[in-house]
Amino acid sequence: MKHSVPLLVATAASLAAASPATRQTTGLNAIAQAAGLTYFGSATDNHEITDADYLAILSDSSEFGQITPGNSMKWDATEPTQGTFTFDNADAIVELAQANGQLLRGHTCVWYSQLPSWVSSGTWDADSLNEAMTTHCSTVVGHYAGQICAYSWDVVNEAFNEDGTFRENVFYTTIGEDYIANAFTAARAADPDAKLYINDYNVEGTGAKADGLYTLVSSLLSAGVPVDGIGMQAHLIVGSVPTTIQENIERFAALGLEVALTELDIRMPVSDSDVGSDADVAQQQADYETVVGACVAVDGCVGVTIWDYTDRYSWVPSVFSGYGAALPWDDDLQKKQAYDGIVSGLSA
Ligand code: G3I
Repeated sequence: MKHSVPLLVATAASLAAASPATRQTTGLNAIAQAAGLTYFGSATDNHEITDADYLAILSDSSEFGQITPGNSMKWDATEPTQGTFTFDNADAIVELAQANGQLLRGHTCVWYSQLPSWVSSGTWDADSLNEAMTTHCSTVVGHYAGQICAYSWDVVNEAFNEDGTFRENVFYTTIGEDYIANAFTAARAADPDAKLYINDYNVEGTGAKADGLYTLVSSLLSAGVPVDGIGMQAHLIVGSVPTTIQENIERFAALGLEVALTELDIRMPVSDSDVGSDADVAQQQADYETVVGACVAVDGCVGVTIWDYTDRYSWVPSVFSGYGAALPWDDDLQKKQAYDGIVSGLSA
């Protein structure tokens, strides 16, 4: 057993005895917890939770034991002007998580994107930007500290280039590499209990970017910086799942860190009807099984979050033209073969 976690819905015994069909109706979070994960979750957003049919499935804690606000905790949403904080939209999602008994992943304190212009285009020196950044991070994290559902935070998001060098965002170019440690220190001071993660994409398999992240977190840990976890976003493409994902998760876990798949979706080429070929649909089922199974196989991997659960609200088609159908529920909120792949990966 990977972790002793409070099963929200079903006991391990009832799951073990369940037939595959029965097991599939138990829900992804219940199956994940029986497999030793802390949660299986989904991202969501404020305009989506006004959709009653969507909300009913999202609120089923046997399917989702964790939710992530996709946008409402970002800097542009929470501190649109310096010193003026707005939490109404984020609070609505946190209140939903609490009402549902779901854990919350906070997303995200420091990221180069979705910054208000007073940050991205401000006139800064290292001290003034560091002050603004640490004030932002501690205020946002502190706003939710102590709330029962506040499980973890993506303190710093997407700090690396594909070659493993540091992304030259406004924080790096103004403050230097220490912006990362400073953000984590501020977050810890604001919330002594939440798990503090660094999050990125294309770090799921071994390679230059994951190696850069590994080198950074190793040095942060050596310096006593309070890093608790690695978020691997896992925005993947059908047929291109990294073959080294399990060994990569294992090496970060061997540092004593948690690992989580934080934004999983697996996109494919789609026709005008927004569905992929039969071959891609079958491959996607296998890919979801492989990726989720890699997390289940490693003791330090604590959870899987899909980046929304239905193609109805996926970010993919608006960014990757000609691609979509990336999630385990379709536009009509019906489960797809991808759902069965996740069940298989959780049941491995
Ligand atoms: O809030 C405005 C609204 O006022 C306006 O009317 C509307 C139309 O222009 O845009 C709205 O802002 C949009 C925002 O989502 C909130 O819905 C932005 O245009 C849109 O670009 C933004 O997209 C988000 C994207 O991050 C921005 O990079 C996606 O929803 C969100 O799912 C996505 O999530 C990121 C993670 O945070 C980090 N990892 C990658 C992942 C995918 O890009």
